[in-house]
Amino acid sequence: MRSDEIRSRFLKFFEKRGHAIIPAAPLVPENDPSVLFNTAGMQPLVPYLMGGKHPAGTRLADSQKCVRTIDIDEVGDSTHCTFFEMLGNWSLGDYFKEDAIRWSYEFLTNKTEGLGLDPTRLYVTVFAGDENAEKDTEAFDIWKKVGVPENRIYFKGADSNWWPAVKNGKDSWTGPTGPCSEMFYDVTEKGLGDMTVEEYNQADAKQQVVEVWNDVFMEFEKKEGKIVGKLAQKNVDTGAGLERLCMVLQKTDSVFDTDLFDTILGKVNEFSISDDVRVKRIVADHIRTAVFLIGDGVLPSNTDQGYVLRRILRRAVRFADVLGMKHGSLFWLAGAVIEKFGPVYGNLSEKAEYIKKEVDTEEQKFRKTLEQGLKEFNNVTTVQLNKQPFLKMLDPQAVFRLYTSYGFPFELIVEIAKERGFDVDDLAFRRDMEAHQSLSRAGAEKKFKGGLADTDEMSLKYHTATHLLHQALRDVLGTHVQQKGSNITAERLRFDFAHTAKMTDDEKKKVEDIVNEKISAGLPMQVVELDKSEAEKVGALHFFGDKYGEKVTVYFIGDSVQTAYSKEFCGGPHVKNTLELAGPEGKWKFKIAKEEAVSAGVRRIKAVLV
Ligand code: ALA
Repeated sequence: MRSDEIRSRFLKFFEKRGHAIIPAAPLVPENDPSVLFNTAGMQPLVPYLMGGKHPAGTRLADSQKCVRTIDIDEVGDSTHCTFFEMLGNWSLGDYFKEDAIRWSYEFLTNKTEGLGLDPTRLYVTVFAGDENAEKDTEAFDIWKKVGVPENRIYFKGADSNWWPAVKNGKDSWTGPTGPCSEMFYDVTEKGLGDMTVEEYNQADAKQQVVEVWNDVFMEFEKKEGKIVGKLAQKNVDTGAGLERLCMVLQKTDSVFDTDLFDTILGKVNEFSISDDVRVKRIVADHIRTAVFLIGDGVLPSNTDQGYVLRRILRRAVRFADVLGMKHGSLFWLAGAVIEKFGPVYGNLSEKAEYIKKEVDTEEQKFRKTLEQGLKEFNNVTTVQLNKQPFLKMLDPQAVFRLYTSYGFPFELIVEIAKERGFDVDDLAFRRDMEAHQSLSRAGAEKKFKGGLADTDEMSLKYHTATHLLHQALRDVLGTHVQQKGSNITAERLRFDFAHTAKMTDDEKKKVEDIVNEKISAGLPMQVVELDKSEAEKVGALHFFGDKYGEKVTVYFIGDSVQTAYSKEFCGGPHVKNTLELAGPEGKWKFKIAKEEAVSAGVRRIKAVLV
């Protein structure tokens, strides 16, 4: 069964059982600046799992695009990818364990509506219990009832059978959480049959059984890494990795041998001189991720999402060279990804030319310094080997030069160094970076113009400009205007808001004038921590539903939170004074570059400071 068929069967199966099929959210969370990417299907749904009302109802299903770069070093083995699709169904305070488990089993094993997997190859784990929640005998009993033999259901601890919530920017786990039940499939030729828990653990370690699905029973709430109590409602959150399902159903040894990668790896093979399978997989994976990221509005830059994309693309460039590809090949590889996924993700086909061009531009940008940088790498390592043959730590100054002057992402430096038997001192690198950034910030040196610090500063300016814009829109168009999404890069701000009509030129001009007036007024941007109710009382705008706890931070523009021009629940960061938005010489103006519809009742503004 091919990937398209699996995806559509999944959605149909749940649609028939009362679920609304929702479109995949963009890879960059629109309303949550605390995380870079959606890393699980549930992430865009957090506000609703916390009790907010979802417009499509209480039963949802989708195929969600996700990016996880934490295991980027492992890409090239049989299962790791930086981009993946997660099929999921949700109950928002609707059904719970009984239906969730029954449907999981039915979908996996039913031949006509589901995947028709062999039930005698299925194993299940359930939560063993700890101080947070009791042993999940309820899930155990339901699995038995649907037909899984008792000796194929294993009790496991929280390290494997507890969904830990999602990590926010402060590196703490926050949000809905709870015990889970996972399904594994025996992929060995002979079949493993009944196994004791020890035998099963071994089979798991040897990847003889592969996880195909996870049902999370979300009853609890976590704040700053601690469980603080029960949620207002019981939810179900499920996740089945499409790549894994394809691997199991297509009986392949790796996700890269499934149809998901046929077009892309076909092109990689055509262009390669080398036969290095691992490197081919890395290039295929990275190009796929890059295409999806650019399709969702990310561009290579030196900060946040843009930097992840830059790292991925530059790594792909280097590995394309290792495979002996011609310069400029990435453009065609991107085309192969779009050919495969465009029919499912329309934004990729719509933006095909743009995406390919951006991939190519980044390849060319890196090429300008790559060769020189590799020469520098060779010089440094040769000199060092001659001078100090036993010192395996690469000269920190050289590392820093490779980063700033040759555009080598830090991880790539570490990787190339390792290939040549060298270590890199990351503490020294971080220290040098900090010194470099404060130097740029102080403006004492023009030498590093265009580096990290500049980009950071522009993003801060655009973030503050977004708050001014939000309030100005409410002044001009009315208080129905509410933020629906925001995305900031070093080049512009993008702001989505609730409003039906196209803005007139006069309205746009009025909004610009207000924002510019507030910029020249030199108003301070300040922050206070308030109880949520107090914050609401002073009229602070918010758009995160119930996601925040009782204490919230409110950023306000003006002298006091009561009289401030703009006040919003927000995690920052911002500039200190609106004058900073006028640029170093105080001449920049806020300008609306584009105003358009994004969906019914939602308009989008792109604006710049020029
Ligand atoms: N949130 C769960 C997972 O990603 C379903 O595994």
